[in-house]
Amino acid sequence: MTTGIDLVLADHRQVEELFRQFESTRDPSLVGRIVAMLTDHDQAEHAALYPLARVVLADEALLQRSMIAHSAVKTAIDQLRQLEGQPLLDAVEALQALVAAHVADEETALLPALVERATAAQLEGLGARIEQAKQRVG
Ligand SMILES: [Fe+2]
Ligand SMILES: [Fe+2]
Repeated sequence: MTTGIDLVLADHRQVEELFRQFESTRDPSLVGRIVAMLTDHDQAEHAALYPLARVVLADEALLQRSMIAHSAVKTAIDQLRQLEGQPLLDAVEALQALVAAHVADEETALLPALVERATAAQLEGLGARIEQAKQRVG
């Protein structure tokens, strides 16, 4: 059974792969795919992952840190939309660093804590809610 945790991790690997492809090809169309992917992931986590984490973990500091990281990513995306050439390359690199730091934090703190403390049913429900959130955006 695919859990919500599997879906979140799969998204993380996929966006890392897109950043890697952009690093090697500099293909500007990849920026649009990265932005779309991050936007969907942000919505799915806000709709499903963070509400479950709030109930199961009751760790406001951890959630607050995640909200700040997602806001920083959104701001970086808004700024990047106006850019081209070298400034765009620099902005994508900065976005990649922000995403990498938050992904590392999520995968070492929030996700392992959820795996440990949520029930199997909660983790399956998380998967269903993430799929629903993605269908709404996609
Ligand atoms: Fe995430
Ligand atoms: Fe996140």
